[in-house]
Amino acid sequence: MSFLFPNYSRANIEFVDGANQTLIDDQGKEYLDFTSGIGVANLGYYHPVLTKVLHEQVDKLWHIPNLYESKLQEQVAEKLANGKDYVGFFCNSGAEANEAAIKLARKATGRTEIISFHQSFHGRTYGAMSATGQESIHEGFDPLVPDFKYIPFNEWDIFPEAITETTACVMVEMIQGEGGVLPANKKWLKYLAEHTQKVGALLVVDEVQTGIGRTGSLFAFEQYDIEPDVYTVAKGLGNGVPVGAMLAKGEYAPVFSPGSHGTTFGGNRLALSVADKVLDIINQKAFLEDVKKKEYYLFNLLYKGLRNSQLVQEVRGMGLMVGIVLADETLLGKAISDLQEKGLLTLKAGKNVLRLLPPLTITKQEIEQAVSLIIEELTILEETAWEK
Ligand SMILES: Cc1ncc(COP(=O)(O)O)c(C=O)c1O
Repeated sequence: MSFLFPNYSRANIEFVDGANQTLIDDQGKEYLDFTSGIGVANLGYYHPVLTKVLHEQVDKLWHIPNLYESKLQEQVAEKLANGKDYVGFFCNSGAEANEAAIKLARKATGRTEIISFHQSFHGRTYGAMSATGQESIHEGFDPLVPDFKYIPFNEWDIFPEAITETTACVMVEMIQGEGGVLPANKKWLKYLAEHTQKVGALLVVDEVQTGIGRTGSLFAFEQYDIEPDVYTVAKGLGNGVPVGAMLAKGEYAPVFSPGSHGTTFGGNRLALSVADKVLDIINQKAFLEDVKKKEYYLFNLLYKGLRNSQLVQEVRGMGLMVGIVLADETLLGKAISDLQEKGLLTLKAGKNVLRLLPPLTITKQEIEQAVSLIIEELTILEETAWEK
């Protein structure tokens, strides 16, 4: 008997400790973490600077409502604006950040239609779920919020007709994470951005999974040569302390006038004291270049080791967000549980993608260790499938 809803399928492991890129369960077994808590612990576990700053903040004020000034919020919003003219709104999760973006887009444009993409994922609250282009996630929750439409991702022909003068915003991930680690085509995305902005709709980039250094730049859109009207972040921003944010071009600041939107905990000092340091650490040229170096190293090892595999269709992604696409989706669950047995934590994405989201602090040796376990496991699975 459990006192919890069974809404998560949980592995039978309880983690009790860890450090850097390793987690330890209640039996003392160690696991190399290639999940980062689903893209959250980008700086690993027990990061000394983050632990220190949170301890220090615990001894100070925890919460002051948004009825009063906050220099800390100003400072973190400025860091998230990353040298550009954007204003920020703080909340507590990715879904909430996307809710804020949807509300802003409707109020700013006076239009209602929101366009997003097949296989997208934007969260589980009503607006964010309505923006999520996956039927399985909508199941049982009708009616959804009206006027949300879904169009094919990376598809050239449909969007010029679908996105029009009646569209409030287009919400898009630079790499569809939950949908299967599927990167947006760079030319397609640029054309989509130009078209969206030309018809007066807001381009909303969901950086909840791709942001905060995950792809080797502070935000993935920086590698796409576009300027979103709005972008949303969460996950890695607090490295485990719940925090989300929506950033919008400065010209949209007056749209959220006093009383128009808000949340009690948004911009909470415990969360923002950590977010402030996360940004200081990650948004450094050397740190981001290092993520790129690790990207090349990890992808090269995977390409070399898997290039003759019949089971692997494709290795794709960007930065330290990697998808290994399996030809046989029935083997994905087994691959993840076998790897877990061998002490490596990985994730599922879409129906047939083995997803890797290691902390950005992962070492070369740990990359080698994980890749050799993955190659070994996929080779065994391929051979067993072949024998059948
Ligand atoms: C791209 C994207 N957007 C939004 C969300 C929702 O974030 P949260 O679970 O913090 O509400 C997620 C979570 O996986 C995500 O990957």
